[in-house]
Amino acid sequence: VKDGNGVKGLMDSGLSEVPERYIQPEEERIRKVGTRRHNVPPIDLSKLKGPDHKKVVDEIVRAAETLGFFQVVNHGVPLELLESLKDSAHKFFSLSAEEKCLFSPGVSPSTKVKYGTSFVPDKEKALEWKDYISMGYTNDEDALQYWPNQCKEVSLEYLKSSSKMVREILEILIENLIGVKLEESRIEGIIGMKMVNMNYYPACPNPELTVGVGRHSDMGTITVLLQDGIGGLYVKLDEYNNNDDGEWLEIPPIPGALVINIGDTLQILSNGKYKSAEHRVRTTSSESRVSIPVFTFPKPTEKIGPLEEIVKKDGVTYYRQVVFQDYMNNFFANAHHGKNSLDFAK
Ligand code: SIN
Ligand code: FE2
Repeated sequence: VKDGNGVKGLMDSGLSEVPERYIQPEEERIRKVGTRRHNVPPIDLSKLKGPDHKKVVDEIVRAAETLGFFQVVNHGVPLELLESLKDSAHKFFSLSAEEKCLFSPGVSPSTKVKYGTSFVPDKEKALEWKDYISMGYTNDEDALQYWPNQCKEVSLEYLKSSSKMVREILEILIENLIGVKLEESRIEGIIGMKMVNMNYYPACPNPELTVGVGRHSDMGTITVLLQDGIGGLYVKLDEYNNNDDGEWLEIPPIPGALVINIGDTLQILSNGKYKSAEHRVRTTSSESRVSIPVFTFPKPTEKIGPLEEIVKKDGVTYYRQVVFQDYMNNFFANAHHGKNSLDFAK
């Protein structure tokens, strides 16, 4: 099975240096020394019910308008489930190459389930130091039939228990923009699709030469991310923060918290008010890191563009209407390259 065991397979074969094709050009490498941490405390979502409601809403809005990243606690996803998710990610990636390759494209019993390595290897100048399994959701029955046994139940529970929070955050952000709630059918169009990924970043002999994930923004509406305790997720401060010198902040692991980030779709819908954050991942020499995102995105047939209520208010529109399927196709046809994915909607 050629390359079938991904980066993990490479490491297990006893490498002491990263192969040439994983060595990033100078400008993409990630320096750890001197990097500041994002030290804003996590937002307590349980306080949305209670006297601090307005304060919590303001915290969410402020984070979405500036960094595009924040962390939450009391999010409705059970803490034991977070632990099980990390364990099952390690379980899945510890399988043999043969077992994992049952989920390779073309072999996988479902086109929605994909085991892979790097992001778009054919298009990348240097490969990312990462293996992953993607599990697209259509319905429970398919998930339980086609997702890997090592992680299907926990992933499905994660998807479901995080959905309420995702909807709540989206509703808050939209109401802040247009003053009213969107009708149910429009909300459904915007958050109609879900996917759970498990990412595995093997310990790397040369973290200063590689990237776990190159700088990119997420294509969807809102991403929920569980990271383990190792660290290495960096977010870029943009011009909005009076910082155009490309400073990056580390999003530190906080036990029990989930990371939330805004994706391209929400930047487009909000006519640029909310920031789809550029982010990337550093590798570590001593330990293998796992992270587990749930992506929420529009239905493929949905037409995405700035909400008409906002365009009316702004008197200007920064993005064109695109069919979400076309947006996705473009996103997955190119290597990660900062926020270039958004150009498709300009
Ligand atoms: C990603 O954004 O692609 C992964 C984030 C992470 O592993 O922390
Ligand atoms: Fe991402």
